[in-house]
Amino acid sequence: MKIRATRRYPGPAFEELGDVEIGPLEPRDDVEVLVVANEPVDAALFPSLRLVANFGVGYDRIGVEALAQRGVAVTNTPGVLDAATADLTWALILAARRRIVEGDRRVRAGEWHGSWADGFLAEELTGSTLGIIGLGRIGTAVARRAEGFELRVLSTRRSGGTPLEELLAESDIVTIHAPLTPETRGLLDARRLSLLRDGACLVNTARGEIVDEDALVAELVSGRIRAGLDVFAHEPHVPEPLLSLPNVVLTPHLGSATRQTREAMTRLVVDNILAFERGERLVTPT
Ligand code: 8YV
Repeated sequence: MKIRATRRYPGPAFEELGDVEIGPLEPRDDVEVLVVANEPVDAALFPSLRLVANFGVGYDRIGVEALAQRGVAVTNTPGVLDAATADLTWALILAARRRIVEGDRRVRAGEWHGSWADGFLAEELTGSTLGIIGLGRIGTAVARRAEGFELRVLSTRRSGGTPLEELLAESDIVTIHAPLTPETRGLLDARRLSLLRDGACLVNTARGEIVDEDALVAELVSGRIRAGLDVFAHEPHVPEPLLSLPNVVLTPHLGSATRQTREAMTRLVVDNILAFERGERLVTPT
């Protein structure tokens, strides 16, 4: 099968695909399989296309419905990135809550002149309430880690769980682990963000578009809340006002970015393609 990938994906498994054409999504008559990282696929450019293998669990940008109408299958990489994403979520929770990046900056700026006994205080983590929006695989991994920090956990799920507005009003830390769908796009709008407690911390390692970014920027500029953000509405663009704020920690979409996880993602991409080639059931169809 003729395979084209938008880049060389990390890890030894990629070699098992043999001859792979690497390059952007330019028109190709003979390509049957595309490997992408959530890039939009215009099926009209690939008349022979039969499979799109996504390197990532989220496939919100690919255009799965239009592909399905043309009989093109789509796979993704669920499960293998739960631990890495949950770990990064905790890194952001700890960094934002304990002012770690701000402290680091002050040390580097030569602003540490002695004991901070009377200042530079943060809010305690232990005993606070964590609100998890979306208790799926990643949300559950985040909740498991919350036990070690002795937090009270509230969560929303597809059915049941704590109602979203109650969760927002009662949590000291809110973390998002829902997929981007028509239902979750703009879920945290200005009104819902205003329900967050003063001093609350919002963490997003899911998708930027789940939050109204302008409203979030306004809340952060006002200094009312804190945030740890790994994802943005128009990546790699980060809203300019955030760059100088001490109450937000920014990372460049690193949720799954450990060597082990990225290699496991490639393994799953390759296993899906090999199963497809053999006419077997796809391992992880979307
Ligand atoms: C990216 C992700 O796909 O899995 C997801 O949904 O957002 C990430 O793993 C990865 O960073 C490649 O761009």
